[in-house]
Amino acid sequence: MVAQVIAVEPFDLVVFGATGDLAIRKLIPALYHRDADGQIPAEARIVGTSRRHLSDAAFRQSAQDAIVAHVSKADQDDAKIAKFLARLSYVAVNATGDEGWHDLADHLRGSDRILVFYLSTGPDLFVPICEKLGEVGLADRARVVVEKPIGKSLDSARAVNDAIGRHFPESRVYRIDHYLGKETVQNLMALRFANSLFEPLWNAAHIDHVQITVAETLGVEGRAGYYDTAGALRDMVQNHILQLLCLVAMEPPPSLAADAVRDEKLKVLQALKPLTTETVRTHSVRGQYRAGASATGPVPGYLEELGNPDSTTETFVALRADIANWRWAGVPFYLRTGKRLPTRVSEIVVNFRPIPHSVFDKSAGMIRSNRLVIRLQPDEGVKLYLMIKDPGPGGMRLRRVPLDMSFAETFAVRNPDAYERLIMDVVRGNQTLFMRRDEVEAAWTWVEPVLQYWGDTDEVPRSYTAGTWGPTAAVTLLARDGRTWQEEAG
Ligand code: BG6
Repeated sequence: MVAQVIAVEPFDLVVFGATGDLAIRKLIPALYHRDADGQIPAEARIVGTSRRHLSDAAFRQSAQDAIVAHVSKADQDDAKIAKFLARLSYVAVNATGDEGWHDLADHLRGSDRILVFYLSTGPDLFVPICEKLGEVGLADRARVVVEKPIGKSLDSARAVNDAIGRHFPESRVYRIDHYLGKETVQNLMALRFANSLFEPLWNAAHIDHVQITVAETLGVEGRAGYYDTAGALRDMVQNHILQLLCLVAMEPPPSLAADAVRDEKLKVLQALKPLTTETVRTHSVRGQYRAGASATGPVPGYLEELGNPDSTTETFVALRADIANWRWAGVPFYLRTGKRLPTRVSEIVVNFRPIPHSVFDKSAGMIRSNRLVIRLQPDEGVKLYLMIKDPGPGGMRLRRVPLDMSFAETFAVRNPDAYERLIMDVVRGNQTLFMRRDEVEAAWTWVEPVLQYWGDTDEVPRSYTAGTWGPTAAVTLLARDGRTWQEEAG
């Protein structure tokens, strides 16, 4: 089954940091896929920039290498690669100096195509680049795309947003949270709002609690420099996990118009019960992995990987969040994420309340609560666990089994990367899947007391062995409430 592809309008896309990690691993492969599927019109241009002096040919070569390394063999087509590379050109620009800006302006002059600047650079360059774009007159009608992290705290996020806002109105700012571009994350909206089944049950009367897990098996790889200044709370919770929480908890928006959805997400963030010093202590757990084992064999601990024995940066965090509104009062949302956990899995588990009264006798076995598992990655799918009679003789014995929908089995199509969707949405001018300024700031407001407490205390993160599910305190966090993490479906 081949989905119908509608071409976007012609555009000029300028990628700052065009030879960096994100561009090579994600942006170039995503653009190649969209081009290969016929979504990018013939006139569209992709312009790479960075401080390095490169010829067009050298930039094309690095893009070709990126495609060979990061696009599956089955999708590498020589003619399509050649057509894609022909769109590419390169201009050397010094983000913090004067060199190259006029060359870039000349390069783009005379075009009335949609103009997009993608800042695939370190966050310290967002402000200088926006200022330069303003100075040379390139900001006037352009859209700007920025990646997380936007700031390191509420104040610094405000400062970055103010600086971007001086040159680009909010309607032309696209803050990427790549989780929002994942097919299965968008599917959350389909599941909730294209089915009448769940909405009547989607509240505190029927839902006991929700778990959101984003587990990774990898360590910090080559990113220790960045990661050590961020930690799991800033890297994953402030953005990806809170965005997932918003999509689960928000009220149905009147439409999928960007602000309709973003207004509802914002209300959830604003309804998060503020954490106090006391609740940070009881509702949060931070961990740091020590040497252990991953699927591929023994792995060093975080401090060894970093080469700094004193770092207190967390590589694991578990939190209990409460949403103070009518729909969710009394329904905890347990959030956890970490590096070097036993498996790579991102999933949302919605646990329904127990039945009010059992008509079965003891021999039927335990009646377990219904559970909806939305598996975001890998093995994308949705499972709804129901109690069913065990088949055969022997009386009424009950068992919980899943209604199981696997994306791979149901749709025989490639699962596009989040960036494919998101870059095309920027060109289409659709901001629904991008974070608005107030959302980013509301998310910082909620995590700030945790950062503050961790910064002020002498306590260090609890250690956990690489390849396990984090510190035991994360188990206690739920056990105190009489609950357990669902590591294995069932
Ligand atoms: C990024 C984080 O935003 O998301 C990384 O900075 C993390 O630390 C990554 O590994 C996870 O993304 P994905 O798409 O692999 O789940």
